[in-house]
Amino acid sequence: MSKLLIRDLCQVVSPAGVDAPLRGRALAELELFENGYVLCDGAGIEAVGPMSELGLVDSEIEDIDGSGLCAIPGLVDCHTHPAFGADRVEEFSLRAGGATYEELHAAGGGILSTVRATRDAGEEGLREAVERHRGWMLRAGTTTFEGKSGYGLDRATELASLRAIKGAGGVPTFLGAHATPPEFADADAYLDFLLAGVLPEAAELAEAADIFLERGAFDGAQARRYLEAARDHGLALRLHGDQFTESGAIPLAVELGARSVDHLEATGPDGIAALAGSEVTGVLLPASALFLGRPMPPGRALVDAGAAVALATDFNPGSAFCESLPVVMSLAATQLKLSPAEALTACTVNAAHVLGRADRIGRIAPGYAADLVLLDAPDWRHVAYHLAGDVVATVIKDGTVASGRAAY
Ligand code: NIG
Ligand code: FE
Repeated sequence: MSKLLIRDLCQVVSPAGVDAPLRGRALAELELFENGYVLCDGAGIEAVGPMSELGLVDSEIEDIDGSGLCAIPGLVDCHTHPAFGADRVEEFSLRAGGATYEELHAAGGGILSTVRATRDAGEEGLREAVERHRGWMLRAGTTTFEGKSGYGLDRATELASLRAIKGAGGVPTFLGAHATPPEFADADAYLDFLLAGVLPEAAELAEAADIFLERGAFDGAQARRYLEAARDHGLALRLHGDQFTESGAIPLAVELGARSVDHLEATGPDGIAALAGSEVTGVLLPASALFLGRPMPPGRALVDAGAAVALATDFNPGSAFCESLPVVMSLAATQLKLSPAEALTACTVNAAHVLGRADRIGRIAPGYAADLVLLDAPDWRHVAYHLAGDVVATVIKDGTVASGRAAY
């Protein structure tokens, strides 16, 4: 197996310890080596530390001069919707003129307009779309991404979406309950079809199931029915909850032992306390709140209350056409009032926990995957500080340069 040494780095930074998810003060605890190195052996990390502790290295070992650079763990995007056809730039323009997201959705635009385009894309078109989106994410520093179906809403397109996500190396989540397509009389009739006709095969491809629990989408009783069926098929559970209204997503998630509740822009004090007292991770999506001009989720209050929080992009064509976790980290710092350290943990090890992978990704430590981002900055915090800046220089996935410069 080939080895790769990244030497003379200004800083090497990783969430500390071995636990996951991190919450409270532990969220900000980092291990930081100034003038450090990372040694990768094949797809894994062999050693990390200060240069002064690097022993003699074989001259055959490939190396990268990390002078002027900082290393952070490869970023983990635990919430994206990459399997879609076309775009929603027209809707974006209408919203700029004052139309609201919910109005467009109710008028048959929004998610349902992407459903039409996604059904038209075909399996090959979907594969190409997910590959393209995966490339955008990788260049922004994301080495592991979750991807949801949910723009097919028929058997063939939902399954093709999951296959495309898996084929691109993503972690597939079945979001069949994203909206009710027009060929069904109501949400209950659509769920009858989904649970009998799609879930059994979707469960063979996906690792988790997700639902949009919201006014105008699915209600609490429907969410319970869908999630219990998904759980019976062995899937982990996720919810889109409290995006526009508090509709009972947090109590349901806690009761069912869900991995996460995502969005939380409308979550109030009781929800914050309930989430903080549970094992469910709150996934914050500030790019979506920004893109829709909506209130930000209560990130600071959740962390202070002791909740486990993760950050993700919510990349999708309607509410968050943004694949950049560095931008999300900037928003976390400026809008959610999380420190850069808290933000880093939230989109590395805590996001890995949401995907059931915190034992293998999200840290720079021996035994973890050799997934790294090299930042062209003298201090790692520039990843959040330099808003939409050109900071991500090189992305290493499984010990191989996957994007950016391989030599300096
Ligand atoms: O997470 N809220 C529901 N689903 C997506 C948006 C989907 C869309 O607008 O196409 C979200 O924001
Ligand atoms: Fe989403």
